[in-house]
Amino acid sequence: MINKYKNYGWFISPLRFGINVLFFSFSVFLFSMQSCKHEPLVPITNNDNGGGGNGGGGNGGGNGLPCNPDSIYFQQQILPFLVSNCAKSGCHDAATAEDGVILDSYVNVMNTGEVTPFDLNDSKLWEVITTTDPDDKMPPAGEPQLNQQQIAMIAQWINQGAQNLVCDDELGPCDSTGVSYLATVKPIMQNKCVGCHTTGNSTNGFVNLSSYAGVQATAQSGALVGSIIHNPMYAAMPKNGPSLSTCEIGKIRNWVAEGALNN
Ligand code: HEC
Repeated sequence: MINKYKNYGWFISPLRFGINVLFFSFSVFLFSMQSCKHEPLVPITNNDNGGGGNGGGGNGGGNGLPCNPDSIYFQQQILPFLVSNCAKSGCHDAATAEDGVILDSYVNVMNTGEVTPFDLNDSKLWEVITTTDPDDKMPPAGEPQLNQQQIAMIAQWINQGAQNLVCDDELGPCDSTGVSYLATVKPIMQNKCVGCHTTGNSTNGFVNLSSYAGVQATAQSGALVGSIIHNPMYAAMPKNGPSLSTCEIGKIRNWVAEGALNN
C-alpha cells in the first residue's frame, strides 16, 4: 500500500503501541468502574503502517504529523461515523458482525467491508452506501443515514488509496473561540455521535443529540462535557470510538460555558 508516512512507521509504531496499551488499560479500568453493561473488548491490533489502527481507545491524533486538508484521515474523519452509524450492536459491531461485516476498526473495515484501494466500483462498502436498491442499501431504511458529506468522504478516502492515516490536529491552529451550535457543535455531533443518539431511548442512556434541544439538555446536565472528557462519573464517549481531540473538546466546553446557545 502506498503510504507517504511509511518511513516513519518503525519509529512511531512502538511508541504509539505503548501509548495505546496505556490508554487502553486506563479505559478498561474506567469502563469496569462505571458500566454494568459489558460488551466484549476488542483487542487492539497495530498494523504498523504509520496510521495506528486503534480499534478501541485511541485519541484525536497525536503522532506528530500535521493534518493536511487535502488528505482524508481515516482515524479522525471516517472511523468515527462508521462506529456511530454502522458498528452498532445488532449491526456491524464485532459481536453481531451482520453478514460477516465488522466496521469498528481499520483492519476490520478493510477485511470485511471489501474495500479495494483506488477502486470505488470494486468496493462493496461504497456499493452498499450508494445503491438505490432498497434491499441492499446501507444503513437500512429507518436507521440514521449517512449524509452527503460523509458519503463524499468515503469516496475520497478510497480514491486516495483507502489508507489508515492519522494526523495530529493539536499541531494545527485550534481556534476554540467564537464557537456556535450550527458551525461548531452540530457537525461534531453529526459525525461522531448522532448515529447512536438519533433519539433518546433505553439503549443510549436516553440521550438525544440529533436536535438542538437534545444537545442543550445534555449540555446543561453536565453529561455532554463529562462524557467526552472521560470524567469517571459518566460513560466515556464516543462509545467504542476514538476520543474527541483536545481542540474539539475545547470548542464544546466553550460553547457550554457560554450558555449552550442556539446560535
Ligand atoms: C457507538 C454508539 C455511540 C456513539 C458513537 C456515541 N454514544 Fe453516547 N452513548 C451510547 C450508549 C450505548 C450510551 C449508554 C451508556 C453506555 O452504555 O455506555 C451512551 C450514553 C451517553 C451519554 C450519557 C452518559 C452518562 O453517563 O450519563 C452521553 C452524555 C453521551 N452518550 C454522549 C455522546 C456524545 C457527545 C457522543 C459523540 C461525541 C456519543 N455519545 C457517541 C452509545 C454511543
